[in-house]
Amino acid sequence: MPPRHFIDLSDFTTRELRAMLDAGRDIKARRRTPASQGDRPLDGKTVAMIFDQPSLRTRASFEVGIRELGGAPMMVTGREIELGERESVADTARVFSRYVDAIMIRILDHGQLREFARHATVPVINGLTKTSHPCQVMADIMTFEEHRGSLQKARIAWTGDSNNVLASWIHAAGRFDFELHVATPAELAPSRALQDWASENGARLKLTTKPEEAVEGADCVITDCWVSMGDKEGNRHNLLRPFQVDEALMRRAAREAVFMHCLPATRGEEVTDAVMDGPQSVVYDEAENRLHAQKAILAWCFGQVQA
Ligand code: CP
Ligand code: NVA
Repeated sequence: MPPRHFIDLSDFTTRELRAMLDAGRDIKARRRTPASQGDRPLDGKTVAMIFDQPSLRTRASFEVGIRELGGAPMMVTGREIELGERESVADTARVFSRYVDAIMIRILDHGQLREFARHATVPVINGLTKTSHPCQVMADIMTFEEHRGSLQKARIAWTGDSNNVLASWIHAAGRFDFELHVATPAELAPSRALQDWASENGARLKLTTKPEEAVEGADCVITDCWVSMGDKEGNRHNLLRPFQVDEALMRRAAREAVFMHCLPATRGEEVTDAVMDGPQSVVYDEAENRLHAQKAILAWCFGQVQA
């Protein structure tokens, strides 16, 4: 049996993603209750976490999640192993797989992550690349559903840069039945390949360069930083300034709309303090849900969650 990797939401069927989301919700409900004693699919297992880029949420939530599921986390920095430099990516993956039972990686180069997963003989989990951030969007969907109910028929709005988090939201739109309205500067629009993927997979994706248009009547407004890891500043601040989420923009969304941001946020740039700290903001729930969603993803990787 090949290992069950978790690389992109586009690799999964709707049923599989729904099974993971439901498992995450149940694991969260059982946390710190006697019933959680049954949630130990990682008993006796070691899970490596390779970080070639900074992290707070991914690092902490995976480490705590692995421990709570009975496993032992092993933290390795990119600098220690010099991925792709000291030896081939394939050899690193083959060797690592002889020591540990699963590997979570954060590296910018998505091709390198895919190459690593091709040669690993244990499950590999994408902890963010330049191309996608699927663990984040699983936690985001969980958060949306906690606050607003089913994602089915909802309208999700994104304003700002087209980055890794948006790519995973586009993948989600190809698997779940919701509208995704995206406003970016023309220069920073989603790639043609991503747009093609979206239309081939029936995603209800609507692109615009006007944030007010994307946000109109939305059930959820999302943004992210203007300069992601590995980005050059270029003209980003100038291009993205009109895409800031402030209270005036939030007023265009539905009255019950929630505001989401994967964090870390640059307050005063992509989002104002008033929105971040306002009544519609669910950003800290999103951060917490990384833990629960990722426990379900780990359980999936070890065959403990079935579609
Ligand atoms: N949202 C997120 O992935 O945060 P970190 O970069 O701190 O892990
Ligand atoms: N888009 C951001 C997400 C950080 C969690 C980045 O890639 O830096």
